[in-house]
Amino acid sequence: MTIVYMDNAATTWPKPPEVLAAMTRTMEEAGGNAGRGGHRLAVAAGEILYQVRDTVAVFFGCSDPFRVTFTANATESINLILKGYLKPGDHVLVSPLEHNAVMRPLQFLAQQNIQWSVLPSAKDGRIDTTLIEPMIRQNTRLFVICHESNVNGVIQPIHEISKIAHSFHIPLLADCSQSAGSVPIDIDSDGIDFLVFTGHKSLFGPVGTGGIVWGSQANIEQITPLKQGGTGSVSDRYDQPDFLPDKFESGTLNIVGLSGLKAGIDWINRNQMNQLSSEKDVLLQKFLDEIRAIKRVQVFCAEKKENQGGVFSLIIERLDNGFAAQWLDEEKGILSRVGLHCAPLAHRFLHTFPAGTIRFAVSPFTTCEDVEICIDAIKMLAEKKETAHFL
Ligand SMILES: Cc1ncc(COP(=O)(O)O)c(C=O)c1O
Repeated sequence: MTIVYMDNAATTWPKPPEVLAAMTRTMEEAGGNAGRGGHRLAVAAGEILYQVRDTVAVFFGCSDPFRVTFTANATESINLILKGYLKPGDHVLVSPLEHNAVMRPLQFLAQQNIQWSVLPSAKDGRIDTTLIEPMIRQNTRLFVICHESNVNGVIQPIHEISKIAHSFHIPLLADCSQSAGSVPIDIDSDGIDFLVFTGHKSLFGPVGTGGIVWGSQANIEQITPLKQGGTGSVSDRYDQPDFLPDKFESGTLNIVGLSGLKAGIDWINRNQMNQLSSEKDVLLQKFLDEIRAIKRVQVFCAEKKENQGGVFSLIIERLDNGFAAQWLDEEKGILSRVGLHCAPLAHRFLHTFPAGTIRFAVSPFTTCEDVEICIDAIKMLAEKKETAHFL
């Protein structure tokens, strides 16, 4: 049975072959440790690292490659910013569709009297920018906005939100885990201060890659590093360097993975992100239009097409989600994701907590045939007569 991969919101698969080739080449030709040695293999690794930094910076419209910090993933990036920037007594505003990569660190920080509240929004979770101002308190120090929801694919109006945040001198953290690589992002013109990305979703890198791009106005001096340690620089001192990129990058970086990330971004650039995204949008709209017409299927997506990313969720009335996802996998080869998708806040907001939803996410590798197989399978599930798995 061929695989119909619809779990691209968890991680994209397949990756372009160039990504695998770049990683093998790095292992073979640049197997030293970047910044830790003057021999040719260490220098080659350092050169690769610089090229990745430059590629990431250019991709997000940042003019200084040293304003890119590499981490293992978006979760580490978000932890770094929230724990390094917020102080006891601070207040944070979040969207209703945040992932636990944001909510769990915030919940942890609640022990230090750091509070959060949820911004008002439309029914799909898209923030209503006219209602932001009254939510801002004297002690509000940060906006955290999931750019594209990993549950219903809603894309937030980052630019408008940041304009309001900045008028109160409050920075904005954009969690671009789902949007990076599929929605155009320009850090400064979008008004993002802390741009968080993960490498393994729409940027087509491998798992274990991610980072932060610091906006040109972001005040990096105010942020304490999450970890201290060797950087290959100023090694005569016990103090952590206070300059970028070393301030936040202690320990050997995942150079092999990062070379794959560069190859993923190069692949997107070669194929033009706008072109890839518009083909993806056409497929997704066909998918959504057809399943919305199926009786007993409830779809969770953006209210307006223009605010829809590549992800959406559904439930089938009275049918157990776990059974449905297992049936899709075993009977049709369709790999979806079932449950809460690490986003209980979003599911509480959408009234799909605690059962969650079945999630589908397309990628530029998704074909029309894949989508047709899914539509037919969902129809079959919705028409199922046996009662064993009915709620
Ligand atoms: C919106 C969002 N934020 C954060 C994350 C965390 O990404 P990672 O697991 O790569 O740290 C994810 C991953 O699913 C996500 O979808």
